[in-house]
Amino acid sequence: MDEQRPDPRDFYKARYQGVEDLPGVGPAIATRLAGAGWKTVQSLATATERELSAIGIGEVTAEKIITAARKSLEIKFIKGDELAKLRADMTQMTTGCAALDRLLGGGLDTKSITEFSGEFGSGKSQVCQQLAVAVQLPVEKGGLDGACLYIDTEGVFRPERVNHMAKYLGLNPKEALKKIIYAEAFTSEHQTVLLNNCDDVIKDNGVRLIVVDSLTAHFRSEYPGRETLAPRQQNLNKFLHKLKRLSQAFNAVAVVTNQVVAHPDAGYGGGPVQPKAIGGHVVGHAVHTRIYLRKGRENLRIAKIMVSPFLPIGETPFRITGEGIVGDEL
Ligand code: GTP
Ligand code: MG
Repeated sequence: MDEQRPDPRDFYKARYQGVEDLPGVGPAIATRLAGAGWKTVQSLATATERELSAIGIGEVTAEKIITAARKSLEIKFIKGDELAKLRADMTQMTTGCAALDRLLGGGLDTKSITEFSGEFGSGKSQVCQQLAVAVQLPVEKGGLDGACLYIDTEGVFRPERVNHMAKYLGLNPKEALKKIIYAEAFTSEHQTVLLNNCDDVIKDNGVRLIVVDSLTAHFRSEYPGRETLAPRQQNLNKFLHKLKRLSQAFNAVAVVTNQVVAHPDAGYGGGPVQPKAIGGHVVGHAVHTRIYLRKGRENLRIAKIMVSPFLPIGETPFRITGEGIVGDEL
């Protein structure tokens, strides 16, 4: 068979438009899939047979559905040079702050998760709100010309604040707010249900940024103590996996925030107290870039790259002003 090699640019042009078009998916299965959050071909292509059998879909059918979804998206083994071309559609978005962009080697990467950690008041939620606006900037200004899906677990998102930030970044504030699809999550389970059901929202609204502020707050308060560590980590892991797969399926940036706890540095018995992000290895493995924010004097903040697959460890100052997150040069 002389099957033509796929053009990487067609990677996301699914042949099957909707889940119901996939072979093996009748109305009953479509409803069952939708109920569990599988509402697009893109997300089904990243599903596992185990996940589908967990919702009562037989092994054979599950395999058929997933294979068709993957085929439809041309997910298959490819050569290294083709991989390079595919990576070409992995892109970056500006933070709307030149100093942070420089620290990040251009901006935040799509198809992966970036974590902002720091103590209370360090600016995590402020950064998230600015990113919700920056993603909307046109590509020539460093944005992704896309919308933002915003999961807020602490009810701290402020439309008025976004208004100021949009003006500062040169966007129409009213239009900018329309492109932020917001949900407040009241429990870790609610947060998970929201994420598991958002794939059609992402697709229909052209979402290119998914914010979860905060990733860990609910998990931390609902699962106190050592006895609950295992289920907490398991559920957190599932959440992060789903988030990562959504970012990959939709070539989107995923941003999470995380608080830090004081952590006595065991290696230096009684030595300095090191702040440590919550979530341990589970978060450490799922997150691709980790940025730690710390407070300086007044509105000064310092962002430090803690982990990155390719960036050097470095830091930069910035300020939280009435206009948003701005570089220290201002
Ligand atoms: P937690 O969620 O509590 O862990 O903190 P956080 O890291 O999310 O902190 P957040 O992003 O909420 O930052 C709060 C800081 O931003 C405070 O120091 C505020 O003074 C500052 N801030 C918030 N809104 C404004 C504003 O409208 N103007 C100015 N100039 N500063 C603001
Ligand atoms: Mg916050």
